[in-house]
Amino acid sequence: MKIDRRKALALLGLGAATPAAAQSSTVAFKHGVASGDPRQDRVVLWTRLTPDTPGADIAYTWKLNPIDRRAGGAKSGSGTTGPARDYTIKVDVTGLDAGRAYTYEFAAAGVTSPMGRTRTLPAGPVKDVVLAVASCTLYPNGYFNAYQAIADLPRVDVVLHLGDYIYEYGGPKTYGMDSAVAAERPHDPPHEILTLADYRRRHAQYKGDPAAQAAHARAPWIVVWDDHETANDSYMTGAQNHTPATEGDWTVRKAAALKAYFEWMPIREPKAGGSLADAAMRSFDFGDLASLIMVETRLTARDSQATLDGDAPEVDGKRDLTALKAKLADPRRRMMGPKQEAWIGAELSRSVKAGHAWQVIGNEVVMARVMLPSPKKELTPEQYAAIPAKAQNRVARYEAGAALGLPAGMDMWDGYPADRERLYDVFKAADARPIVVSGDSHSFWANELHDAAGKRVACEFGTSGITSPGGGELSPGINAGDLIAKANKEVLFNDQVSNGFVLLTLTREQAKGELVAVSTIVAKDFTTRVVKTFVATPDGKGVSGLKEV
Ligand SMILES: [Fe+2]
Repeated sequence: MKIDRRKALALLGLGAATPAAAQSSTVAFKHGVASGDPRQDRVVLWTRLTPDTPGADIAYTWKLNPIDRRAGGAKSGSGTTGPARDYTIKVDVTGLDAGRAYTYEFAAAGVTSPMGRTRTLPAGPVKDVVLAVASCTLYPNGYFNAYQAIADLPRVDVVLHLGDYIYEYGGPKTYGMDSAVAAERPHDPPHEILTLADYRRRHAQYKGDPAAQAAHARAPWIVVWDDHETANDSYMTGAQNHTPATEGDWTVRKAAALKAYFEWMPIREPKAGGSLADAAMRSFDFGDLASLIMVETRLTARDSQATLDGDAPEVDGKRDLTALKAKLADPRRRMMGPKQEAWIGAELSRSVKAGHAWQVIGNEVVMARVMLPSPKKELTPEQYAAIPAKAQNRVARYEAGAALGLPAGMDMWDGYPADRERLYDVFKAADARPIVVSGDSHSFWANELHDAAGKRVACEFGTSGITSPGGGELSPGINAGDLIAKANKEVLFNDQVSNGFVLLTLTREQAKGELVAVSTIVAKDFTTRVVKTFVATPDGKGVSGLKEV
């Protein structure tokens, strides 16, 4: 699947991206260009100026040109940016034609930005749609080769990023800092980010990556945050990685993180007076073929996670699970609020009534029911006996976890089963054909989702991280993904090793998910391979099971 990007650009008559001017200037474009939230008549364009001497506002211009040779359709404009928005620029260009491809660029103080490509969403009859689904980009853990692979795709209509676009950690012993490339890619700033200045600086570091810039310049993105854009395992009123006593008020940190996110990401701004968190809930129509419904399950309504340490005290050396199980079973606990649920229901109904074949749910965390596997139960006695000594610790952890009878991830939808059932009711009430796409887990998934009564309600493709580490192999020939798939009815396939993205191709006949892995994240030369391909087909008013092809 790897093609020469320059060749692809040349075929489109574009030439290579224009490098930012190197001569002595008052500004530079060091963070690339991006576009996002395309609609039939508009798209958001983004860039960021780096002034030699920050302080004053700076004027800029932008232009957007159709790639085809049809007459008309070019747009241009101007504005100013400054320190109040960290010199980021966001333009919502309107009056565009549906399903049309464009190039765009910015200029300021005589310096021109790199050129990006974007396209509006199509209207009317649509044959197919190609989405690249990405998540979990841990900078110190590796090169963003999977972003480069997305930039190199021969076709991608939209890049869908489901969160963990940045990570909040920092310092020498933190997440990802044991990787082979961490010494040359340490987090900046070199400490956990807390303030608006910190979050801005971290976004700037990630947007300085050439592969990230290439993927942004390739196609419009539709994004939503997960937890690490604020802090690990965040919820409405706090986060696992937030300590109010030493790190201050959560609402202040959350507001700083969201302000930086909206400054630095090509996401449409909320209407005047609207909340930033509410602005993440939005839907997109790909002509008559599919709707994409983006959900926000972190900061709007989510209750705190159930945790072993917090909810299952040790009594006489044994965990007492009574309180934890009661918490999990509490029907009042929420991932989303009633307003969000009603909005999703209305969007699904609208899409189904319009005759759209698919309803893609852009979702952060894995939705399937996933229990930790017992290697003893899932493996034959011979396979079990062959597990090498170095994997015994891992096996023991799995056995202990499986013995507790708890979900593998209580930060995932499994930690909020009543709310998941409510969402499934919404799917069913709309006669929707939901294809759920999920990030967060750093592993690939092909899942079939069922309600409490065992009725299939959706299929799910989970994407692995661009660089974030998965659960890893237990031992050669026996891996965690296989064990998890064996132990869980809803999981057809799980890969805890590969990094990459999901290429989702929709036609009226099928929804095809290709799980695309990169060969390495610790060297810049890489190849890609499709680990597995699964398809779902329409099944009456619902969706079929997944079939490997
Ligand atoms: Fe992640």
